[in-house]
Amino acid sequence: MPQGGNAQLSTVVLAAGEGTRMRSSTPKVLHPIAGRPLVEHAVRAAAGLDPDHLVVVVGHGRAAVTEHLEGLASALDRKVTTAVQTEQKGTGHAVSCGLSELPGTLSGTVIVTYGDVPLLETETLSALLAEHSSSGNAVTVLTAVVGDPTGYGRIVRDTDGGVTSIVEHKDADEDQLEITEINSGIYAFDAEVLVDGLSRIRTDNAQGELYLTDVLSIARGDGRRVGALVCVDAWQVEGVNDRVQLAKLGAELNRRILDRWMRDGVTVIDTGSVWLDAGVTLARDVLLEQGVQLRGSTSVGEGATIGPDTTLTNVTVAEGAKVIRTHGSDSAIGAGASVGPFAYLRPGTSLGEKGKIGTFVEVKNSEIGTGTKVPHLSYIGDATIGEYSNVGAASVTVNYDGVSKSRTTIGSHVRTGCDNMFVAPVTVGDGAYSGAGTVIRRDVPPGALAVSGGPQRNLEGWVVSRRPGTAAAEAALAAQKVEEQQT
Ligand code: UD1
Ligand code: MG
Repeated sequence: MPQGGNAQLSTVVLAAGEGTRMRSSTPKVLHPIAGRPLVEHAVRAAAGLDPDHLVVVVGHGRAAVTEHLEGLASALDRKVTTAVQTEQKGTGHAVSCGLSELPGTLSGTVIVTYGDVPLLETETLSALLAEHSSSGNAVTVLTAVVGDPTGYGRIVRDTDGGVTSIVEHKDADEDQLEITEINSGIYAFDAEVLVDGLSRIRTDNAQGELYLTDVLSIARGDGRRVGALVCVDAWQVEGVNDRVQLAKLGAELNRRILDRWMRDGVTVIDTGSVWLDAGVTLARDVLLEQGVQLRGSTSVGEGATIGPDTTLTNVTVAEGAKVIRTHGSDSAIGAGASVGPFAYLRPGTSLGEKGKIGTFVEVKNSEIGTGTKVPHLSYIGDATIGEYSNVGAASVTVNYDGVSKSRTTIGSHVRTGCDNMFVAPVTVGDGAYSGAGTVIRRDVPPGALAVSGGPQRNLEGWVVSRRPGTAAAEAALAAQKVEEQQT
């Protein structure tokens, strides 16, 4: 633990910037990668330190950003404070705004991060804290060595390697522009040094802004230790400024999420076509085929197969299930069940153990029991079906009368014929059967056979007399001739 005694740990996440280059009506930090807004990745990394205070500085689009943070706070079950920076006067000013929401007599350590740097991990912040306390620094900055340092603040070191200052690109001289070690914008500060430094920074620079980076040279000038921790994994300090970077960091995060699950025992056939949100959980021996997107809080049990070509959002798939070419959301699939190919699971679908939702079947707000099968070409909406029943091909629950929705209840061990319409509200009892083409308008008692519609009539010679000269009439005449010759 880097924090001695009752020293406090505070984290400040800067997220007030406009993000003009996104060219979007959505605030930059609310653009998602891996299913979570950029700012959520940043806040989760900071929250991983379990700090005493966590404050996010919001500005542009603050109503929407604050709303998201409120939901996140309850998901994380911790306090997330927001501080408003109405005008973006620079990173130093932003941190001052953040600190104004924290206790007046701040002590301990303050970590500063950015809301648009999504790949930063808690482990890196822990390493920064450890370096900060073990070396007795007043300020420790996280840096990276990059191929193209254009635009970044440069880390200026003395001959002993100590950090003397950070010089912004626009303020740098020719020699300083050659420096490839850049400021990530992530720091650990002694709280008192930060508060004192922020009261002394000025806007006498190329951008006329209050630079947080000037706190380092002020501390150094006061004779305090200023150090740096080089982050070898440069992806972790990369920020998003436009949608090209959004896609690039999104792809890298996906690659990292896939690596983690593969090391935990998941098989991924084609890492280029499988996309997993950060909130997805997978068990051992899950097989992900080509073209799979698992979103939100989707979880997949041991030995289940997903794909090819399947998108699941907030779906729970139990062990051993197979889900092929399916689009589903807010649903649950039982152990050993089979779904697809070409199935559409809408919210509220629950399929029991070893059940089947087959080809060209749409299901909504329905419970389908253990071992029950809906194999072909059907719509099941607002229905409850018991165990070990079979719904014949091309069946529809007629759940909507144009005004209100009604439920269909089908019991256990039921066999319904093909092309049945269940005109809800209606109940089919346990062990009942129904004939092909039945329109079930009345309840079917347990064990009954339901049939509807009159007997079939054939009007002999109708086509030849009523549709003379058509191809159908010619074909009928030819068939008649063959029949006559045979008799
Ligand atoms: C800043 C650093 C620079 C570093 C770079 C890393 C300063 C003076 N410079 O550059 O050394 O290499 O980050 O990306 O700190 N923000 C606010 N309010 C403001 C200004 C910024 O909330 O008034 C937020 C932005 O939303 C963003 C972050 O702070 O998340 C950084 O701001 P940005 O303008 O992107 O950084 P630079 O000033 O270019
Ligand atoms: Mg700036």
